[in-house]
Amino acid sequence: MKGLILSGGKGTRLRPLTYTGAKQLVPVANKPVLFYAIEDLVEAGITDIGIVVGDTRDQIQAAVGDGSRFGARVTYIVQEAPLGIAHGVKIARDFLGEERFVLFLGDNFIRDGIVSLVESFRGNAADCQILLIKVPNPQQYGVAQLAPDGSVVRLVEKPKEFVSDLALVGIYMFDSHIFEAIARIRPSWRGELEITEAIQTLIDLGYKVSPQILSGWWIDTGKMEDMLEANRLVLEIIEPDNRGSVDPASHVNGKVVIEKDAQIVNSTVRGPAIIGERTRIVNSYVGPFTSIYHDCLLQDSEVEHSIVLEHCKIVDVHHRIEDSLIGRNVEITRSPVKPKAYKMMLGDHSKVGII
Ligand code: G1P
Repeated sequence: MKGLILSGGKGTRLRPLTYTGAKQLVPVANKPVLFYAIEDLVEAGITDIGIVVGDTRDQIQAAVGDGSRFGARVTYIVQEAPLGIAHGVKIARDFLGEERFVLFLGDNFIRDGIVSLVESFRGNAADCQILLIKVPNPQQYGVAQLAPDGSVVRLVEKPKEFVSDLALVGIYMFDSHIFEAIARIRPSWRGELEITEAIQTLIDLGYKVSPQILSGWWIDTGKMEDMLEANRLVLEIIEPDNRGSVDPASHVNGKVVIEKDAQIVNSTVRGPAIIGERTRIVNSYVGPFTSIYHDCLLQDSEVEHSIVLEHCKIVDVHHRIEDSLIGRNVEITRSPVKPKAYKMMLGDHSKVGII
């Protein structure tokens, strides 16, 4: 089997971070979301992986490379415009050939990996396997209506009226019949070739679509709240590790990962938390569910339940920063010059809550 990861898209819901960076590279517990998808495929024995990339292809390519660090071989497929998931599959035809494959949306994130799902598809005569999970807001997803015997009756993308509360998770398995279905569909109201419609077409053509219900958690990491939730869930199951240094005046409690060459000086870190490579935490407090990425400085400040991206400087911020997602190279400091005032340079679509 092959793997196909979609890693294009504009990430509009994660602006301003996604003006300069790919949404799939925003880290969860100090690892880009996309890496979890690659690792899930490799863990399931799928090492021949295509990644569909768009505007942010240089960054994705720089981060993932040829895939060898994951034990995979990665082929990049360029999508000229975000024309939909089924379009991404269509342009990967040459790469996929006649083989069965797993389609993994690069911003989707599940806890338990895909080993058992791939096994069940391998041992199954179905042409397609979909993954479903009960959600409270089905209108935001594609949904599947099931018959009492568990078979799929129909699929609807972003239903305006209630059809089912079983959402389609962005991890699908197909054989090459999907190309026949994609050839028959037309762009939707949002101008995209919808994979949901292509799967419905498979059903209409008489092919077998087998549903699996997901029991662990799933997150589509499109929005800040989703990123913080994914971060919380991954930190909860992280193994503590110290590859940096902690001075005797510091307190590190609970599950904390301190990455290589990170320094904790006269500070308290209360896990679960992760401190990135070469980051320095000085006279500060880092509270539970916080991920601070590499090359940051946190000095005389307090941060909790937040994600801080690389190369940030947070100095003299005594009011605790909470529930925040802070982008790359951000500086938050106390201004020494009078008059006393907030002085900010914020990108478009930034959100700041002050007291
Ligand atoms: C896409 C699919 C949708 C699916 C979702 C999962 O939605 O169209 O069927 O439920 O991914 O993340 P989109 O992110 O394009 O709104």
